[in-house]
This record gives sequence, C-alpha cells and structure tokens, in this order.
Amino acid sequence: MEKMWSGRFGKELAKDADDFNSSIAVDGKMYKQDIKGSLAHAAMLAGCGIISKEEAVLISDGLESILADIESGVLEIDPAAEDIHMFVEAVLTERIGDAGKKLHTARSRNDQVATDMRLYLRDESETVVSLIRKLLAAIVDQAKKTKTCIVPGYTHLQRAQPIVFAHQLLAYAMMFIRDAGRIQDAVRRMNVSPLGSCALAGTTYDTDRMYTAKKLGFDGYTLNSIDGVSDRDFCVELLSAFALIMTHLSRFAEELVLWTSWEFGFVELDDAYTTGSSIMPQKKNSDMAELVRGKTGRAYGNLMAMLTVLKGLPLAYNKDMQEDKECVFDSLETVKACLGIFAPMIATMKVKKDNMYRAAGKGFINATDLADYLTKKGKPFRSAYKTVGNIVAACIAADKTLEELTLDEYKAFDPDFEEDLYGEISLAACVQKRTSAGGTGMKSVEMQIRFVEEYLK
Ligand code: ARG
Repeated sequence: MEKMWSGRFGKELAKDADDFNSSIAVDGKMYKQDIKGSLAHAAMLAGCGIISKEEAVLISDGLESILADIESGVLEIDPAAEDIHMFVEAVLTERIGDAGKKLHTARSRNDQVATDMRLYLRDESETVVSLIRKLLAAIVDQAKKTKTCIVPGYTHLQRAQPIVFAHQLLAYAMMFIRDAGRIQDAVRRMNVSPLGSCALAGTTYDTDRMYTAKKLGFDGYTLNSIDGVSDRDFCVELLSAFALIMTHLSRFAEELVLWTSWEFGFVELDDAYTTGSSIMPQKKNSDMAELVRGKTGRAYGNLMAMLTVLKGLPLAYNKDMQEDKECVFDSLETVKACLGIFAPMIATMKVKKDNMYRAAGKGFINATDLADYLTKKGKPFRSAYKTVGNIVAACIAADKTLEELTLDEYKAFDPDFEEDLYGEISLAACVQKRTSAGGTGMKSVEMQIRFVEEYLK
C-alpha cells in the first residue's frame, strides 16, 4: 500500500520496518472514537468555512458508512495499515474521492491519537467503575449475611482479636470505593480535548476548538498545543489506578486462597469458580483467585513501562508514545477480566461460620479483652497486659483456653478477678464491646453496610 507520506521518499519502507512501525493491531479497537473525532472535526471545518458544507456532508456520510460497515463486519480493519487513523482516512478517500483528502486539514495524527485515547479511556473507565460497583454489591450482600459471624482477625497472619466476617469484607469495600473514585478523578482531569493542537504548534486556520470539544463531550480543550499532543499523564493516572485495583484484588485473592485451604476452611468457593487437578482426585483449587493474584504483576509492569516511555522524552510527540496503548489496553483488559470474575466468585462463595467460630476459640484472641477487664478495674494497662501475658503462658503450658481457667486460678494472678470476667471475654462480648467508630461492633458494621449501599444507589 502506498504511504500517504510517500511524497518525500525515494523508495518504499522495508517490509519489516513497515510491520515494526504499524500499530493497527493495537489501536484498531479505537475505530469508533477515531471516527467520532473525525465527524466532529469535519463539522467544525465546515462551520468555520474551511471546507464547504457539501464536502462536510460527503465526509460525514462516508465516515458513518465506514463505522456501520466495521460494526457489521462488512469492512475489515486492514492489518497492513499503518494505524487506525491512516486506515479510516484511506477508506474514506476511496469511498468519496477528493473530499476525503480534505478531512486532515488543520489536524495532525498527533492531536488525533491523543483525542482518540481520551475518548476511548473515558468510555472504558465507565465500564471499569460499573464492574467495581458489581463487585461492591456482591461484597455488601455477603457482609449482610455475616454480620454476626465471628472469625479471628489477624495481624502478622497470627490470630489477633475476634471480629465479624462482615467487617473484614467491608474493608475491601472501602478499598474498591476509593478505586472507583481514583478513576473518576483521573477522568475528570483527562476530559479536555487535545484536538486542534495539530502537530504541536496549533494551526494557521481559524478553527473552533471549543466546538469540537463540546461535540465530543469534553469539558474544554487543552490550553497548550505542545502539552496537548505530548501529555500522557492520563495514561499514567489510569494505569496507577488500575495497578491499585489489582493490589486490592490480589490481597483479597490471597485471603481466599488461604480461607479455602483445609488449614483455614473459612470459605468454600462455588464449583463454577474452582478447578480440579489432573492427578489428585480430591483437589479443589482456587485458580481464579490465584490468576487474579498472578495477573497483578502485569498491571504493575504496564505502569512502570508507561512511566519509562515518558521519562526523558523531549517535547512534543515522539513515536515512543505509540507504546502507550499496549500498556494501557493490557491493564484495562486485565482489570476488567479480574473484576468480572471476582464479583460472581464472591457472590457465590459459601461462608463456613462454624469453622470460623472454632478458629476464633483458639489462639487467645480475647487476651486483649482480659487485659482491658483488669484495666477497667483500675490497673494501669501495662500492668494488666503483663499479668495477662503470664496467664496466657500458663494456659499454653497447661493446654487450656482462657475460658477454661477457674476463678481461683485467675485470682492467683490478680485478686481483682471476679466471676464477671467470663462474660467479658466471651467472643460475642469481645466483638460487641468494640463500639468505637469504625470498629467491628454491630453498630459500626451496620453503618458501613448502609454506607456502601448508599454509595451504590
Ligand atoms: N500510531 C501513532 C500513535 O499511536 C499515531 C500518531 C502518529 N504520529 C506521527 N507523527 N507519526 O502514536
């Protein structure tokens, strides 16, 4: 295929260089945004008297027919084309003749690709946010069912203090709400039109950048044409938001892998979201969770790759920037796939309350409450803490739980212990007494559930 820019060249691009240079395999998916951008541009050119009304009609009819034909499969995106922008323009000129050659007046691929990317990522960001919302709905649903389900809370993966399982789940809800907010923040900053920046310096034509910006749903246009074509901050911001979503999913995935093990036995994932082994007949593996955890690495890699592409790039456009799409699209598809599999996996998981409660009974997770008991009787916390440490050591030596020590045994450690201590250290009491704002007590958990439900409205 003859290149549009062949005029200055003495011979054709080498085949391997042509393949190396081509980005259509990656940017072909932006055909809709590319055509939308061109429709707005053509309407602006006509509105400003840069092309005739008749030419604008030919161009927009031609572009609409290309869009319809790509969508219906009549027109295949040519894998040999240089990129989606060249492809659409070439097909347009094939279809409508000379008017097609006027479309690129007062425009460059540099502002065109920056516009396409912003449009594409704006649409896709909405998809990601709606997937986050689906996951949040699954989480809050499970939280409502596990408001009274006592389980050990952990620090250092050691049993620490009793909590309700809903509290643990709602911690993830808070992370995903922040994730959605980060994407929306990035979109807000990104939603300005680079179109009309042209190659880098603007144009000699009397264009109307606000017109195309409005038509494309942007809040305004970029104020500096060099920045307009060379800025990829929005890619970095979104990649970073995606990387953090993956961090959260990966932590959640890791917990699911632990919770579904025989060692924990807290949760059973639905058969539809687990796999078996090719040799061990008994196995039920949490492959989806593990894959999500594994895919987190590529999301981090894409963020680092994008930052590295930009580092040291002189202004304005450089071909290095074509790499942006590979990074962003890969992270985008990864995050969509992971959120997409996580929501139904959480919605269908079974919580094994009895196993959780049994685990909570071992490990002295009510020891803090025993220390608090003495503290409330007037002992300084540090002294009470030390006494309880000694009690725990004695329990370990005697293979007993705190509940199993007699009052006489307690009194040997501190005469202030009374019969009411047993009520104070029961697991249910330990949870219910944690009434501080944001704690695992019932009021706080119900408040969190309402907060997430309110968010989802
Ligand atoms: N395919 C290119 C990209 O994705 C489009 C912009 C090309 N501009 C240029 N001056 N070569 O970045």
